[in-house]
Amino acid sequence: MPVTQNPTTPTSTAPAAQLVHDGSRHADAWWRSAVIYQIYPRSFADHDGDGMGDLVGITSRLPYLRDLGVDAVWLSPFYASPQADAGYDVSDYRAVDPLFGRLEDAKAMVARAHELGLRVIVDLVPNHTSDEHEWFRAALAAAPGSPERERYMFRDGKGPDGSEPPNNWESVFGGRAWTRVTEPDGSPGQWYLHLFDPKQPDLNWELPEVREEFESILRFWLDLGVDGFRVDVAHGLIKEAGLPDWDAELHLLGAGLKGESTDRRPPMWDQDGVHEVYESWRRILNSYNETGDSAGDRIMCAEAWVTPVERAARYVRETEFHQAFNFDFLETHWHADKLREVIRASYAANDSVGAPTTWVLSNHDVVRHASRLGLPIDQPRPNGIGAEDPQPDTELGLRRARAATTLMLALPGGAYIYQGEELGLPDHTTMPDEVRQDPTWERSGHTEKGRDGCRVPMPWEADRPGLGFGPSEQTWLPQPESYRALAADRQAGVPGSTLELYRRMLQVRRELGMGQGSLLLEESTGDVVRMVNDAREARVQVVANLGTDPVDLPDGAQVLVASGDLDGTRVPSDTAVWFTA
Ligand code: GLC
Repeated sequence: MPVTQNPTTPTSTAPAAQLVHDGSRHADAWWRSAVIYQIYPRSFADHDGDGMGDLVGITSRLPYLRDLGVDAVWLSPFYASPQADAGYDVSDYRAVDPLFGRLEDAKAMVARAHELGLRVIVDLVPNHTSDEHEWFRAALAAAPGSPERERYMFRDGKGPDGSEPPNNWESVFGGRAWTRVTEPDGSPGQWYLHLFDPKQPDLNWELPEVREEFESILRFWLDLGVDGFRVDVAHGLIKEAGLPDWDAELHLLGAGLKGESTDRRPPMWDQDGVHEVYESWRRILNSYNETGDSAGDRIMCAEAWVTPVERAARYVRETEFHQAFNFDFLETHWHADKLREVIRASYAANDSVGAPTTWVLSNHDVVRHASRLGLPIDQPRPNGIGAEDPQPDTELGLRRARAATTLMLALPGGAYIYQGEELGLPDHTTMPDEVRQDPTWERSGHTEKGRDGCRVPMPWEADRPGLGFGPSEQTWLPQPESYRALAADRQAGVPGSTLELYRRMLQVRRELGMGQGSLLLEESTGDVVRMVNDAREARVQVVANLGTDPVDLPDGAQVLVASGDLDGTRVPSDTAVWFTA
């Protein structure tokens, strides 16, 4: 369908919409409009009954994802790991951790996914290894200045006896980012850098050997048949020369410094040198291209918490990542004007480099949007919610979450869905502190609850032990009682359930080609976000009502999707609708 610059507006009083994204400009590569479902392997499905999800469990549930209507899955790490950071501490990048199964299970999972028409993206963790990786063990056993130490960020300490850390950096999980080692002869020794847990030593990406090793790891998984990589902490690999002090707390998002604003880029994030690494990876991915189309079939997606958007866009230039998570969207509060602004800015930045914009509301690192949106609107996003914290309004949170997803899935580009959000799952917000496993909880001195609340095992069948997570009643984190009513089997086939809402949206999105559409956004429409997705097969109008008063749909509107019950032709508060007119 041709793009219309001055469309008829949904209501006669609304101002004209502006074209903020022209979907007709790009080739049709699958990843430009894909909906990718994040599987968190520890918590998706347990086959062997040990209370921890596994690859065979995942494979057995793939038909559910085909029926849901997603295009691909991304799996968080399932590699050999001591699990100090739930698998983001990898000790062998070419092996499956016995917790999750064997390499054969990974191959079977990829094969089954492909049979079902689903692509498979795996996680790659290049910023750091586990301290139990053979390289780090060798580094500890070797002398300062040795080639083994060179692979990591070892430095002498400050002060006469080297007992002060080399600089003042703090770790993302709390506490200092340096740990002092004991040398093989028993004397107090050098320090090594870990931007995350002490069990996650940072690699030295200036060293060619490190680069070669990761190129070989990429090839290993590409040869096994995976369709791409989600790259962990993609903005962190290169550190500013000299490792200068940084007088602020460290967050994944450098600009999210508590109470401070600065024009200087943090010396550990978003250094220009990272781009060279990704250019070489892109060349490898392109060489696996089966269609001969320069757009490619195998992709990589950056986890890069980078601001402003112009800096973030550098990661998705044609010679680097295919796409990057849009954390600005995830971080946007429930305000129509802020949503309009982030939608416009996201398209402007990505379109300027020819990359698809992606959309995401939840993942394994943040409070789920069904809980987040049940908190007071202007409160900063908490890092976990505990029993003694103010509790989210569950009903309001779910209502807004359904509206937010309905808005999100109407947007052209790629989208990421985090397992369980299609069931409307909230976080476990009253989890006992004793069962918490996220290193954040300990490392922050029990001031930040951390991310366990969004990582709870999936409820599949309400009447089974462990809500059908596996064959036993064991689950590595406890499931809240509220998950029973939200189990997949309680929602499947039930009109109005969150699961059926997601299925319907994904079906309509696919059938009408909304992922490839052009977007027209109306300005100055107060608490109501009004847009038109000028899609291949229809002009889909979207109204998301964030205000308190109901909004009328125009005469003759044919509703395709509604996030909640409508009052005749009126869209109530915190409800979003797709319609044609
Ligand atoms: C990424 C992951 C997070 C992990 C961290 C360190 O942000 O998403 O779960 O803890 O990197 O690897």
